[in-house]
Amino acid sequence: MRKVLIIFAHPRLENSRVNRQLLVRVPASPSVTINDLYETYPDFNIDIEREKALLLENDVIIWHHPFYWYSSPPILKQWIDMVLEYGWAYGNGGEALRGKVVFNAITAGGNAEAYCPDGYNCYTIPDFMRPFEQTARLCKMDYKPPFVVLGTHGMSQERILSASTEYGMLIESIENESFDFESVNGNAYLNSKLMGTLI
Ligand SMILES: Cc1cc2nc3c(=O)[nH]c(=O)nc-3n(C[C@H](O)[C@H](O)[C@H](O)COP(=O)(O)O)c2cc1C
Repeated sequence: MRKVLIIFAHPRLENSRVNRQLLVRVPASPSVTINDLYETYPDFNIDIEREKALLLENDVIIWHHPFYWYSSPPILKQWIDMVLEYGWAYGNGGEALRGKVVFNAITAGGNAEAYCPDGYNCYTIPDFMRPFEQTARLCKMDYKPPFVVLGTHGMSQERILSASTEYGMLIESIENESFDFESVNGNAYLNSKLMGTLI
């Protein structure tokens, strides 16, 4: 079994339609941990040692968040700034995270047409993920394409449920090692190999 750590960042979960539902289908399993950053650190005072211990205990890390201003809500940046320390995560002696798999799981208001060179956001989602990708690379982690739910504005409840089923199935297959991470290398999205219809 692989151990999965979901590092979750949504500043107003009580108002969420999509992410709240995505979390519902995350398997309740001792191998899966949801680390809700805004709930745990409402003052942004991240417990670095707790976070490092969680990272060490897990094999696959998911940065799960809504897409805000082409990036993540700020607490995830704070988490990266505080936890991924020189000499631990990167740099001289920084080997703690070597080989761990990491990817973003994001929801975004814009749809797939908006996230392309001819669309109104001009760039693709993987383009916007570059800072995360390179952060992972610097930490010798194995960065994978993002799991995406696009076009969330006005998304039907049916599609939200379908996205949530897909997310739950993905995590279950990661956990039981049936998901082949090698097969998604080079893909724009992690879920284009799964149900595919959401993007
Ligand atoms: C502050 C803020 C910034 C946002 N920025 C973006 C953005 O850059 N691109 C985008 O496609 N959607 C953007 N959105 C839309 C959110 O991504 C969308 O509402 C969210 O993913 C829906 O998930 P939820 O129901 O769990 O909140 C933004 C929303 C907010 C509140």
